[in-house]
Amino acid sequence: MSYLPVKQLLQTEPGQTVTVKGWVRTKRESKNAVFVAINDGSTIHTIQAVAEAGFLPDETLRLITTGACVAITGELVPSQGAGQAVEVKITEVHIYGPADPEKYPLQPKRHSLEFLREIAHLRPRTNTFSAILRIRHALAFAVHKYYNDNGFYYLNTPIITASDAEGAGEMFRVSTLDPINPPRTEDGKVDYSQDFFGRETNLTVSGQLEGELGALALGKIYTFGPTFRAENSNTTRHLAEFWMIEPEMAFFELEDNMNLAEDFVKSVIRYALEHCADDLAFLENRLKEEEKTKKKEEQSEMTLIEKLRFVVDNDFERLTYTDAVEILRNSKPAKKGQFQYEVGWGIDLQSEHERYLVEKHFKKPVILTNYPRAIKSFYMKQDESTTAPGPTVRAMDVLFPGIGEIIGGSQREDDLEKLTTRMAEVGIEEEAIWWYLDTRRFGSAPHSGFGLGFERLVLFVTGMSNIRDVIPFPRAPKSAEF
Ligand code: 4AD
Ligand code: MG
Repeated sequence: MSYLPVKQLLQTEPGQTVTVKGWVRTKRESKNAVFVAINDGSTIHTIQAVAEAGFLPDETLRLITTGACVAITGELVPSQGAGQAVEVKITEVHIYGPADPEKYPLQPKRHSLEFLREIAHLRPRTNTFSAILRIRHALAFAVHKYYNDNGFYYLNTPIITASDAEGAGEMFRVSTLDPINPPRTEDGKVDYSQDFFGRETNLTVSGQLEGELGALALGKIYTFGPTFRAENSNTTRHLAEFWMIEPEMAFFELEDNMNLAEDFVKSVIRYALEHCADDLAFLENRLKEEEKTKKKEEQSEMTLIEKLRFVVDNDFERLTYTDAVEILRNSKPAKKGQFQYEVGWGIDLQSEHERYLVEKHFKKPVILTNYPRAIKSFYMKQDESTTAPGPTVRAMDVLFPGIGEIIGGSQREDDLEKLTTRMAEVGIEEEAIWWYLDTRRFGSAPHSGFGLGFERLVLFVTGMSNIRDVIPFPRAPKSAEF
């Protein structure tokens, strides 16, 4: 007797006695037989177990309900039914854990994603979420594989940090001080010298600054870890806790950075196409059903897999922010006739602008470069000569259809004086990141990097529309159940 995951059982030659362990998806009774579909998470598919009517004791039959956990032993035989090669002819059933059908929230029907978000602790047991989680795993593996294959070292940057890498002030404080009555100095300020680390600390918003230290020692590094943002953005694209992949490369200039970003995303999407075919096909069908409920003009022209292939097989469009603004200024979005936010050089592009460029104008992923200095972070390399109306930096954002910004990055300012001058302009004290400035003081080098929001990638690959549905335990404003 052997115990195999369902994924392997479905490819096993009939004729042997096997045991399958998993959760009951459905039970169907006919006049002559009872059919039980079991899934164990190893695949999107279920294996069917069959017993002749009257074979199973009534009490056992009663406990085989959707959600119950069982071990079923029997002979693996060729299946009579369509859609599966083999099934298990039941000789023995063990119930590990029943699931009272009166109380178990997941029933064999389509539940809304909103409802499933309320029972996030059970939703991994659904087809949709187990498919998403397997794809998420495959993409994470593909990320490590890509960088390992290309000579990058995996660098673990700190979660608790005293710096604000993006300079945007959107941090979660980490403190052991009494939050209501913290100790104060004579001038009434909170006395952080009494805090655990002896200073103000927070959860990291990005591992980039430490990543730069790594690149200027190891050459090419990448981080892949959780990052935290206390921005109160209640959107379908933002999480308070998300995972970011941040490669950082010595001697890379903006152009090399763009080439790497494009090759990297294509490579991990290709990996998912090659290794997650069943799960992608399942999600594609799910989307097709959803599309049918939409108006004709709102239906997507491509299926999920066609969309992924398209991205992998075509060059991304590359243009400057300045050129993009020109395009947007001369565009009339079909539906409303104008953008909600007016377009002019210097504005921070809104998601309606980004989506217009990607989905309507170019109809492919776009890399925008050379943004106005005023709307980007202090560490970006300043452009020497530019024809733009104002100062620009060597920034790049990669924009994806249906997602908007999926990657943000830049060449870094490697000139100490330019960097400190810019820091003074935006109010960042040198003492706060003295260690970062040391990289420019000693053996500075041109270098570049970027950050890919992992959940935005999973969102794109799975075709889901809410970022809270592509992370097992979403953290967003007013939502952290456990
Ligand atoms: O553009 P961002 O803020 O860039 C950085 O943090 C840089 N330090 C990266 C670097 O150059 N090493 O964030 C990078 C990416 C975004 O493009 C987006 O995909 C994702 O991180 N992201 C979020 N994803 C989910 N929820 C949020 N609140 C996110 N904020 C950013
Ligand atoms: Mg950004």
